[in-house]
Amino acid sequence: MLRARVIGTGAYVPENILTNHDLEKMVDTSDEWITERTGIKERRIAGEKQAASDLAYEASKAALKSAGLKAKDIELIIVASVSGDMPLPATACILQDKLDTKKSAAFDVNAACSGFIYGLSVANAYIQSGTYRRILMVGTEVLTKFTDWEDRTTCVLFGDGAGAVVLEATEEDRGIVSTKIHSDGGMWDLLHTPGGGSRNPASKETVKKRLHFIKMKGNETFKVAVRALESLVVETLKENRLKTSDIALLVPHQANLRIIQATAKRLGLPMEKVMINLDRYGNTSAASIPIALDEAVKTGKIRNDDYILLEAFGGGLTWASALIKW
Ligand code: UT7
Repeated sequence: MLRARVIGTGAYVPENILTNHDLEKMVDTSDEWITERTGIKERRIAGEKQAASDLAYEASKAALKSAGLKAKDIELIIVASVSGDMPLPATACILQDKLDTKKSAAFDVNAACSGFIYGLSVANAYIQSGTYRRILMVGTEVLTKFTDWEDRTTCVLFGDGAGAVVLEATEEDRGIVSTKIHSDGGMWDLLHTPGGGSRNPASKETVKKRLHFIKMKGNETFKVAVRALESLVVETLKENRLKTSDIALLVPHQANLRIIQATAKRLGLPMEKVMINLDRYGNTSAASIPIALDEAVKTGKIRNDDYILLEAFGGGLTWASALIKW
């Protein structure tokens, strides 16, 4: 049986840091409120000329280097993002051009903050079916360019960054063990960007009404997220006949520390076994899990044969998990 094994990870975040104290000067908020309600202390902001593919390129180079491969060795590039360079073409194609290879297919996946795990599930299916042997899976976001800096309920949350993994087919008993993806389109309006698509094409009116910025009903989203993630992690462990104590590390989407703590509590998992970096990067949507995973690898939190559980929740609504035996 073929499995998709992670053979390299990489990440990139822009240099510019925006702290909670900086935000205090921009909107009616406080470091205390942001820290208590979210766990975030600072986030990275992409430069004026930096787009999603630029961040993705840096993360991809790092992931390829750690895998010991060149871009021409990759057969498929998948990019998960809701803040791509342009509506057309796919950011994955722009990334392919930057990586200077024509040897791969390239496409985007949009499942908001769950996008990286949705992408992993697609990559896993391609590898298990024998269609492709080596896939580059990237999560990249420049959310701060779609952030309403006058809306204190959202502007304190988001940050920019990218993370990537290289997956390779293996016949060994390791790699992606299972992926689970869920959606509930009935709640699409809890988290959305109303302007710029075919529903509300860009016009003076859409700009005036600030429709090109991310809108979120935070509190409602929070409640659904906690419930959905709780049952998702329990379902994932049960289906794979694993106990909580079998999990070496939980790598959750970094949206809100309170959501992460609630999930860990439900699992009975001590917080030492949970990867947290949202204090430094905020919510980077589809990029948050690969950035956290790369940090976990680089800081020695993951060893061979460990079971690693990834989980995410986001716009759509979507939620997803991936269980990996490292
Ligand atoms: O990544 C994809 C999925 N996203 C998520 O999972 C995010 C889910 N939601 C959240 O993380 C939280 O709901 C937030 C952090 C967004 C908000 O926290 P909350 O505890 O749900 O606060 P709330 O929205 O219920 O607001 C509580 C109060 C309100 O004031 P009143 O009405 O009680 O007087 C808000 O106006 O906090 C106020 N508030 C703020 N105060 C200071 C909202 N934003 C701010 C702010 N600074 N930045």
